Amino acid sequence: MVALCCLVLTSRFRVNAQLSPDYYSTTCPNLRAIVRRVIVNAAQSNPRIFASLLRLHFHDCFVLGCDASILLDATPNMESEQDALANKNSIRGLNVISQIKTEVEKACPKTVSCADILALSAQISTTQSGGPFWNVTLGRLDGLVANQSRANQNLPGFFFTLPQLKATFSRHGLNATDLVALSGAHTFGRGHCSQIRGRLYNFRNTGKPDPSLNTTYLTTLRTICPNDKSNPGNIINLDVSTLIDSTTNTSRILKFTKDCFEVIKSCSQQPVQTPLLAL
Ligand code: HEM
Ligand SMILES: *[C@@H]1O[C@H](CO)[C@@H](O)[C@H](O)[C@H]1NC(C)=O
Ligand SMILES: *[C@@H]1O[C@H](CO)[C@@H](O)[C@H](O)[C@H]1NC(C)=O
Ligand SMILES: *[C@@H]1O[C@H](CO)[C@@H](O)[C@H](O)[C@H]1NC(C)=O
Ligand SMILES: *[C@@H]1O[C@H](CO)[C@@H](O)[C@H](O)[C@H]1NC(C)=O
Ligand SMILES: *[C@@H]1O[C@H](CO)[C@@H](O)[C@H](O)[C@H]1NC(C)=O
Repeated sequence: MVALCCLVLTSRFRVNAQLSPDYYSTTCPNLRAIVRRVIVNAAQSNPRIFASLLRLHFHDCFVLGCDASILLDATPNMESEQDALANKNSIRGLNVISQIKTEVEKACPKTVSCADILALSAQISTTQSGGPFWNVTLGRLDGLVANQSRANQNLPGFFFTLPQLKATFSRHGLNATDLVALSGAHTFGRGHCSQIRGRLYNFRNTGKPDPSLNTTYLTTLRTICPNDKSNPGNIINLDVSTLIDSTTNTSRILKFTKDCFEVIKSCSQQPVQTPLLAL
């Protein structure tokens, strides 16, 4: 990954350049089509790739900015972000980014940064999954260093408290509204049983499940996630809409906040969430 992505961009001398959706419109006019083709192709054997690529961009951006530092492999002098707590055995899609980079290099050599590829991939993946479109501004430069301890500080864990989450997001100029909206990303993709087992069997050391969990849904989740720590690999759908019969017509964000990671659930106690739930 490192060799592929740390190419010296001619544009790296454009300090303070303005990002723009049209940044590559003359130098790589087919960029979006190329990125989409590779992703859609990968999704045929791995539908989860859309979620994985969105998360990859998020995990890139929260450490040293959206600079592709997440792609840098460890060196003897540098620990990788890939080995940070929230990434190790958990981020996916690096191989697909590598394939995209290869295809983009064929069409437009030494032109497009990996950071822009990550940003575009996240947007395209969202659209391909039925999510919203946004104009991705382009023209990012690739960073040359990774910072694992920064990744450990900034990337939220499932065990983060709400104040910790708010602090992490505010460090990036994002407030509680942004936090709740962005958490809506968990309407797709998957997590691990280890992240919710506490809620299923021993909520806050009570020896009982989280009382706010629907008991029908609790039974389903317990089947998927037995109380067996020796089997931490089981994965759960983050979007529980396939598992519960939602007659309440609540938004997808609410489904996530109610039923998945406990801490995000506490967002629903924030008044700020009310308008978002009406979306
Ligand atoms: C707000 C704090 C957040 C917390 C505590 C959190 C936590 C998590 C956890 C624990 C997982 C499961 C990872 C695994 O088991 O491998 C996950 C998956 C995921 N997260 Fe987050 N996350 C947060 C914010 C975000 C944001 C802002 C985005 C994107 C905008 C995002 C996108 C995703 C996606 C798409 C997945 C599924 C990935 C896949 O299936 O490969 N998350 N998150
Ligand atoms: C994206 O940019 C194009 C061209 O500038 C504009 O026509 C379109 O309305 C924008 N879309 C969104 C969702 O901002
Ligand atoms: C990495 O980030 C940590 C925490 O923000 C900081 O203290 C440290 O100086 C950074 N390391 C490098 C090499 O920049
Ligand atoms: C967050 O910032 C946006 C504007 O960027 C604002 O509309 C919103 O009310 C703010 N939310 C909170 C909780 O301050
Ligand atoms: C729990 O979920 C089941 C099945 O989705 C539903 O029939 C039931 O009404 C729910 N119970 C409560 C208390 O919401
Ligand atoms: C759910 O909400 C939508 C939009 O508000 C509405 O059109 C629809 O009738 C509602 N469905 C149910 C079952 O209440």
